[in-house]
This record gives sequence, structure tokens and C-alpha cells, in this order.
Amino acid sequence: MRVKVRGKRRLQGVVEISGAKNSAVAIIPAAVLADEPVTIRNIPDIQDVRTLIGLLQEIGYSTTYQDNVLSIKQLTKIDWEIKSEEVKKLRGSYYFMGAFLGKLKKVKMLTSGGCDLGHRPINFHLEGFQKLGAEVKAESEEITITAPKLEGTTLDLKFPSVGATINLMLAAVKAKGETIINNAAIEPEIVDVGNFLKSMGANIVGLGTSAIKITGVKYLHQTDYKISPDRIEAGTYLILGALSKGKGFTVRNIQADKMTSLLNLLKGIGCRLDISENEIFIKNEGPLCNFHIVTKPYPGFPTDLGQLITVLMLIVEGESSLKETIFSNRFSHVKELEKMGADIKVIDDTIYVNGPCQLKKATLVAHDLRCAAALILASTLNRGQTIVENIEVLLRGYENPIQKLRNLGLNIQIE
Ligand code: EPU
Repeated sequence: MRVKVRGKRRLQGVVEISGAKNSAVAIIPAAVLADEPVTIRNIPDIQDVRTLIGLLQEIGYSTTYQDNVLSIKQLTKIDWEIKSEEVKKLRGSYYFMGAFLGKLKKVKMLTSGGCDLGHRPINFHLEGFQKLGAEVKAESEEITITAPKLEGTTLDLKFPSVGATINLMLAAVKAKGETIINNAAIEPEIVDVGNFLKSMGANIVGLGTSAIKITGVKYLHQTDYKISPDRIEAGTYLILGALSKGKGFTVRNIQADKMTSLLNLLKGIGCRLDISENEIFIKNEGPLCNFHIVTKPYPGFPTDLGQLITVLMLIVEGESSLKETIFSNRFSHVKELEKMGADIKVIDDTIYVNGPCQLKKATLVAHDLRCAAALILASTLNRGQTIVENIEVLLRGYENPIQKLRNLGLNIQIE
């Protein structure tokens, strides 16, 4: 699949933000910990969610998914082996490890996939499972984790990994006694997953801080939980707002207090932002300043917006830079932007852009989710036609992006 974009349109209107992808892809596997049926609202209709729902069905759950509401009910006894190869399609499937450990004390599955962002080990997850009492066998692509018993302990993460924090929380929620996760990640999606577990009766304190304390419980009851809005999707549209000349537009259904680093940056370089309770009006009112950023764990500038923010560097005067400190290679968009004529280069872990860049029409390839979003943003700057191929990767993580962009006035066709 590919999209054709003709840019330089004056965008206006309202874009509604969907539920958070990185909450949804953890909360869906986490739901297997429930001992009663659960309902989860505001689940974005994205490919990664569809893959996880398919996996739940294969595992032995009945699911209904309509209007972003997912209801899940266990139908049969659950086999500890997840045989499906579908787990390879996304990163979030590794949350079945923690959830199965919590539920069945054992799991066998293939290693998960996800965007290629350089080396992405899961040693913190596995070391944590081992400290909780599990034995881990990793053979080529298959991981077997068994725990005669899981007992609470203190886990010190070497880095505040989002995935490890969530996976260990899932494994600990029904373990015996008290588990403390030190140097835990504090991203809002972790708080969301923790609140989901708490809504079923889990005993977790310290969510959103770097020390999370979990006291194991035996039973998790039914829940009806609504997940938070996607701060990265919101950030994507806000960056689009900063790129576009025109009347400005409103990004609705957001939590501005979860996006401070981006909002400070956009304000600091000269964008107009009118922030109210759950929406932001954004307008590019004149020349924006060049800027230098470093990606950091929350509340720092999110790595997930790194590729996108480099597109904003293309329109500002002078040198801007982005230092990526979370992943070893999140630069797949750079060679594509070069094809459009961008003056952009990578030195070590930093991207440098010399703007403003005159862009020309080009055919680009989306290599990963945020790369795809970045290329679409870049194509809005070009009056001529830009083609972005392999757009499937965008649909893994953004709900209804083509229609949302069209509603704002962008000329974009998918084929
Ligand atoms: N790391 C290790 N060992 C581990 C775990 C992580 O060395 O056991 C390293 C990673 O290699 C990486 C760093 O720690 O260099 C951070 O990784 P983290 O575990 O925090 O990231 P993740 O759980 O793999 C999630 C999101 C990513 C997002 C990051 C950081 C999901 C499914 N993925 O990944 O989202 O970039 O946290 O915020 O929640 C995206 O949405 O585009 C995306 C890639």
C-alpha cells in the first residue's frame, strides 16, 4: 500500500485523538490476568490491536470489538504455549510473557517483533522474571519461562525500560508477597496499565514514580476501563500544525499535562498554542526558530516523536539537531528525507538539519511506524506529489490517519 500526498494545503478544523497505542498493546495482554470478563474502552482500531485480539482468540478468549470497545471473556482452559507466529508482528506481544507468568506460572512463545530501531534486547524483563523465581530458557526464537512459584522481591532496573517495567508488574501482580521495582519507567502508559490492573483489584502503589510497589493478590475481578489518549498521536498532529501555514487547527481529546516537553518546545520556537482542558489549538504564525533537542525517558522529549520533529527542522532557518539517546538506530527516515532534497545528516547518535530546505517531489519508503508518520509530515511541505510506499507500517499504530488528515484539508490518497 502507498499514499500520494500533495502538500502546501492550508489546514484547518479539528482532529480527534484516539486511545494510546502503547497502553492498548499492554492492556490487552494484561487482560488475561483477569479472573472475570473485562471491558476496555477507547482502544484504537490499529493493526497491532487487531493482531493482539486475534492472538487472544487463538489462546481461548471470546472477544467483541466495536466502536473502540473491547470485551474479553475466557472460554476454555488456557494452554501455557502460545503457538501462533503472529506474536512476531509486534513488540507488545511480549507482554503475554508477564501476563501468562502471573496467571499460569509458565509460558512458551516465540520472541516478539516490532519496529527495527537497532538492538532491542529483553534482558531486563528476563532477569526480573528470574529474580521473581522463574527459570528462563531462550532457544533461537523461542522462549520458555517456568516458575514453580513466583515470590515478591526487589527488582532494580539498570535502565527505566517501559517494556520491562510493565512486564514485571504483570508478573508480580499475583505473585506471593511484595515486589518493588526500582528505577521503574514513569511513562503515562505505565500508569495506564497499572490503573487498569488496580481497577481489577491489584494492589499497586507508586505508579508514575520510579519505585513501584506491588503486593500480590489471588484474584482479579471484572472491570470496565477506559484507556488514556495517545500523547504520541497528539504530538504527531501538533507537529503537523506547526508545519502548516493556514488558519491553524484544534487537536482534541488530549492530556496536555502529559506532553509538556513537546508543548514547551513548540511554544519556545514561536508556535501559537491555545491550551484548554482537553484540546489545543495550534497555529504557525510566522518564522519559527531553529532548535536542538535530546530524547529522554518521560517527562523528557519522547523518542517516539524524534523522527517527526526532525521534519519541523526542515522549515526553520539555521542548524537544528536531535540527539537520540533511547534507541541505537532510529534514523530510518533520514535517507528518505534526503531523497526529497533535505540537507540532513547523521553523526553518531545525532541528526543535524540545515534549514530551510527546498523539497522536491520523490517516492519514499516508510521503514517503521514513526518513520511513516514523519514522511507524511514531510510530504505536506511539498507542493508537488510525494509518494510514500509501505504505508502498512503507519496503520500498525495510527487510527484512521488518512481520513483524519483529509478532514484537516490535506490532499492524500491511499492505494
Ligand atoms: N532495553 C534493554 N534491555 C531490556 C529492555 C530495554 O537494553 O530488557 C533498552 C532498549 O534496547 C532501548 C531502551 O532500553 O535502548 C529503552 O527501551 P524500552 O524498554 O523503554 O522500550 P520498549 O518497551 O521496547 C516502548 C514503546 C516504544 C517506545 C519506548 C520508549 C511499546 C510497545 N513500545 O518500547 O514505542 O519508543 O517504549 O518510550 O510500548 C513506538 O510507539 O513507536 C515505539 C517504538
